[in-house]
Order: sequence, then C-alpha cells, then structure tokens
Amino acid sequence: MSYKLDKKGFIINEGNKNKIQKKYLPSFKKISSFLIKELGKNLVSIYLRGSGSTGEVIPNISDLDVIVITNKNILKKKLIYFSKVFKKIEKEYIQDVELEVTIVSLKDFYKSQRYKNLRIYIKTRSVLLYGSDVVKKISKIRVGKELSLEIYQDIKKEINHLRKIFLGKIKNPSYLNESRPIKFWCVWTMRTLLRFGLGIVMLDDKIYTSDLKDCYKIFSKKYPQYKKEMKKALYLSVNPTSDKNFLVNYLETFGKNLFYLWEAKIMENQGFNEKAYSKIGIEGTYVSGFKFIRNLLRNLKTKKVLDYGSGAGRSSVFLKSLGAEVFAVDISEKMVALGNKINRDIPFKLIKNKKIPYGNNTFDIVFSSFVHVGISSISKMTRLNKEIFRVVKKNGELIILTINPQMWGKDYISTTSIFPKEFRGISGDKVEVILKQNPPMRFFDYYWEKSDYQKSLLDSGFNKIKFFIPKSTEKTKTPPYLIIVVKKY
Ligand SMILES: C[S@@+](CC[C@H](N)C(=O)[O-])C[C@H]1O[C@@H](n2cnc3c(N)ncnc32)[C@H](O)[C@@H]1O
Repeated sequence: MSYKLDKKGFIINEGNKNKIQKKYLPSFKKISSFLIKELGKNLVSIYLRGSGSTGEVIPNISDLDVIVITNKNILKKKLIYFSKVFKKIEKEYIQDVELEVTIVSLKDFYKSQRYKNLRIYIKTRSVLLYGSDVVKKISKIRVGKELSLEIYQDIKKEINHLRKIFLGKIKNPSYLNESRPIKFWCVWTMRTLLRFGLGIVMLDDKIYTSDLKDCYKIFSKKYPQYKKEMKKALYLSVNPTSDKNFLVNYLETFGKNLFYLWEAKIMENQGFNEKAYSKIGIEGTYVSGFKFIRNLLRNLKTKKVLDYGSGAGRSSVFLKSLGAEVFAVDISEKMVALGNKINRDIPFKLIKNKKIPYGNNTFDIVFSSFVHVGISSISKMTRLNKEIFRVVKKNGELIILTINPQMWGKDYISTTSIFPKEFRGISGDKVEVILKQNPPMRFFDYYWEKSDYQKSLLDSGFNKIKFFIPKSTEKTKTPPYLIIVVKKY
C-alpha cells in the first residue's frame, strides 16, 4: 500500500505503538532495559521504524529495524559488544525475522549525509519506543521529485560500491559493525533497486511506499519493459543468491539501465543535446539498421547522395564509407555547425524555410535516418517528402531508416522507450525515448505505422514502395528498425 499523504502532499506517519505486533514487544523491552543500563543519560531515544511500527511485519521477509539515538558517539568496541547482545536477544525473543539495530549520535542523526535516508525513513514510518521524540524536529517529507533527488543523489556511487563488493574488491564488507555474507548484500542490492525504481516513478508521480512488492508493482506498471528484471529483484530480495558473477552482471545491466532512466529523466528540461548526440556511433542497437542498409546499397561510388536530417554527420560518415559523394542537410543550426566542424570533407548545409539548398533532380539517392519518426503530423511529413522528391533525380531513390512501431515500449542495449501516460497506440502518439549514453538523452518521437509512411510517400509523388524489417542483433528482441525504399519515376 502506498503511504497516505496529507492535503499538501506530505507523508503521514502511520506508525503507532498500539499497532506493534504483540509477539515482538518482549524483545523491545529487553533492548530498552539493556540500553538504559549501558548508556544511562547518553541514551536519547529508541525508535522502531518501518513495517514493525505499523504492525505489518512479514515473517522471514521483513526486518525489525530499531534505531537508537545517543548523546555521543559510542566506541566501536562497545558497539561490537552491543551487537552480540542484540543477536542473543534476537535468538531468544524473535526468531521469525531479523533484528537490525542502528546506533547513531543525535548530531549525526540530524546533520550527517550518511543518515539522510534514515531521517526520511524514520520521519515517514516509525514509532517512539523510549525517550524523547527527536524526530519531531525533522521537517515533514513531501513526496515527489525533490524527495527522489534527495534520496538518490548518490545512487551511482552506491551501485558502484555494491558492484565492488561482488567483484571482491572490498574485503569483508560490513554493516552495523558486522561483516556480512554475499547473500546479505544481494538482499541489500535488490531492496535498493526496488526502491530506486519507485524513486524514478516519483520524479513524475506523487507516490511513496517502503513496501517492496508495491515498489515493484508501481514501477512495472509505468515501465513494463523492465517488469521481468524488477520481478527478479523482488524474488532475490527474499531468496538471495551468493552468485557473485550474476550479481555483478545484474548491476551492470539492469542497475545501469535504471540509472540511465533516472539521469535522462532528471535532465528532461535541458532540451535536445546536440553535442551529446553528435558523439553517438552506429554500434549497439543501431547495428541492425545500418548493416542492412550497407548490404542494400553496397557500393555507392560515383553516386551523389544527400543525407537529409544528417545531424552532426553520423549517417553522413556512414554513407561516405560506402564510397558516395555525400552532401548533408539539417534544420538545426547547431547540428550543421557541429557537422562542419567534425567532418570537414562533407558539406553540411542548413535547411531554411523548409527548402533544401540544392536544385531539382540533383541526387541519385536521398538517405534519411531517424528524421521521419520525429515529425509530429502526417501533413508535415508529406511536405518534407515532397521537398525531398524535388531534389531526387529521375529513377533515383529515397531510403528511410526509421523505427519499427513494434519497438516502442521496449528496452535495447542503446535505447529504451516509454509510453507516456497519454499514449493510446494510435498514429501520431508521442513516445518517450532515452538513449543510453553518457550523458543519457531524452526526447520524444512519434508512433507511425507502415501505412502512415506509405500514404505520405505516395502523396508526395514517390512510387514502388518497399519495406524491410531486419532482424534485431539482440537475439530475442523485436526488430527495432523499419527501412523504406521508394523510387521517383
Ligand atoms: C535523430 S537525429 C538523426 C541524425 C542522423 N540522421 C543520424 O542518423 O544520426 C534527427 C535529425 O533530424 C533533424 N531534423 C528534424 N526535423 C527535420 C526536418 N523537418 N527536416 C530536416 N531535418 C530535420 C534534427 O535536427 C536532427 O539533427
């Protein structure tokens, strides 16, 4: 269940002493009396946080999280002794779940970066077991983008740290003064990823929970292409593995994908990043599209080819590698400038007032990759195709590399795409696209079906339409590209 919010969007703490499951009460009594004896005046408060505070502990799945706040830092030696005592209490009084006791000084609790998540957790779901209510002083937590940014600002570091543990680069990794086995870190990783998934959703939606199953459900509903991996995280959070290779791989694939999603979402207001786009090559997901075209065109020696919507020249360089004399045009000034700077042997020219700066019947071939899919209406697409028609020689061809509409909503090595809320699966619907590169890029394309391209191209004067859908290089995946070849007679 998602956490309840008040009218202003602040999370309501539903923790309550009366909700604590009775069977756990003796253990808390024991912990309190032990700490009172050991710490005396230095003991400030004891909290129970998370599912324990709302009586929702699930045997063998949840933890009992006790937070002890002290007046001063406790020596490590003493902490080690304490954890031994807590282990004993756990054995004697609890049995069906693990007891985790965190001891932190009041100063660190309020100020330290290390405890920023703990502050949020306690503020949103906890109950005071003993002492004074120091949590009152922490500001209320409002669900949404800011909270997500606060919790996950260091997620990259965290994922990398976990990766190092599984790679064996960190010896005897410990938590709460105890060295923990790989299975513990597996659970930790999976919980982190499940919560991080919710954090990504929280960048758009006002929703919060600490229940891992709900994190999974909320995330998978919004990002169905990652449902399988997130389900695995949920499974492994309860049935951990000690297979280090698997865990490293899981972090390097799924963990990285989540990170790309997160970064791209955060950068969403920064517009199209021409510089970042100019750095991508034709590897990864792109291979199948460009490889097919290479086989289709083979040798372009003596051919004059126009790269329509060239960007900074990724596709122009590809055409040049096939031997063609290449001319590049684009509507973006920035792209044209970058193109001329990076690829000095190809002329990049600007399309002004929708006019290609070349005469009628100039090119043997016009090639256009990933331009049509970014056009927002069929009438605009037809206007563009008509202008291309003008510059193609008689018997010349237009070759379009675009997106197979079945690709949308799926995940690939280099790209992931998401159906936004308003997506209906109807021609012209927007799709959110994230290019997985450093830094990741996010923009919108449009859902066009074969029949939409067909109509527009025939209306523009082209003939003899042929469609090709080359297989994906990522074995089990839907072919990502659609290639269209048309002739001018
Ligand atoms: C996704 S990039 C593709 C660049 C290049 N063809 C490639 O495959 O890497 C799309 C490019 O199309 C350009 N573009 C967008 N609308 C256009 C239009 N109506 N006419 C020409 N170029 C356009 C953009 O400026 C951008 O450089």
